Amino acid sequence: MPLERYQYLSNVWRDGLFANKVIFCTGGAGSICSAQVRAMVHLGANACIVGRNVEKTENMAKDIATARKGAKVIGIGAVDVRKPELLQAAADRCAKELGSIDFVIAGAAGNFLAPMDQISPNAMKSVIDIDVLGSYNTVKATLPYLVESAAKHRTDGHTPPPNGTGGRIIFVSATLHYSGTPLQSHVSVAKAGVDAMAMSVAIEQGPKGITSNIIAPGPIADTEGVARLSKQDHREKSSKGIPSGRYGTVKEIADATVYLFSDAGNYVNGETLVVDGGQWHTAGFANGFAYPDFLISGDVVTGVAGGKKSKL
Ligand code: COA
Repeated sequence: MPLERYQYLSNVWRDGLFANKVIFCTGGAGSICSAQVRAMVHLGANACIVGRNVEKTENMAKDIATARKGAKVIGIGAVDVRKPELLQAAADRCAKELGSIDFVIAGAAGNFLAPMDQISPNAMKSVIDIDVLGSYNTVKATLPYLVESAAKHRTDGHTPPPNGTGGRIIFVSATLHYSGTPLQSHVSVAKAGVDAMAMSVAIEQGPKGITSNIIAPGPIADTEGVARLSKQDHREKSSKGIPSGRYGTVKEIADATVYLFSDAGNYVNGETLVVDGGQWHTAGFANGFAYPDFLISGDVVTGVAGGKKSKL
């Protein structure tokens, strides 16, 4: 569904900011990542989004393309970030068809609510594989293109880059592991790994002109993440406990993305930009499962999206 600009991008950014640039995004059909890509496309970039679901990914690519007349957005489905060869093929196709990869968002993630004693080894592995190895596979597949773009678009902080910026990656992480979050051990462990990877990329690839940063969203309204991680009837109540008094919007994550990828974010490298209205400082996302009573009860999580399916 075509969206009004203000639904995914504030009015402070200049049209054409990312003209002749290409963004590659995993998990690009999701609510947060699609807004990030839509914002970049609105500001001039062409894009390639990859995801597991073919129809969802292809439809989202068409939808994102409505953000700017003449925009090219490729949607490549059936790409599981756990399969390095599929990601490599997608990155190569993106660069071949669109001409380069200047920006990358490693956004694909796996998530559900469950205490550690109810998670199977395969469940733990699935989330770590998607988040940590998926992010690694994304870096590996796109790095040569990012290095090429970084070399062309080096910034010195004194003169405006004549053809804009390039060679930048953002990892979409979370704040769960800062203070510890019950029912989220698997994701906390995985996102801590993603954060460490983002910093390693900054340290190792920074000298080649790459910037590598993390965006850690808090609870963002109307997203799959919030549907998976909290009970509907608890959301209004919990939003009052956020210092900013409400859930965030996908636009607010997209704006952070544009900042880090633009000439405004040149000297930010290896950093985490938390966009959560101050929520994590209040120690944990209140998701409607009383601590520690729920854990002691041994009950299974119900009433959220992504619940475990019965094998019977
Ligand atoms: N509670 C406990 N275990 C769960 C679970 C839940 N809610 N959902 C899945 N699992 C377990 C499965 O039972 C399986 O373990 P098993 O083989 O020991 O039974 C394991 O996780 C893998 O699940 P499966 O559905 O086979 O794998 P998948 O790779 O297709 O799915 C997940 C990966 C589990 C992360 C799934 O939640 C997913 O596809 N997420 C993608 C979307 C998403 O989470 N987006 C994040 C938005 S914030």
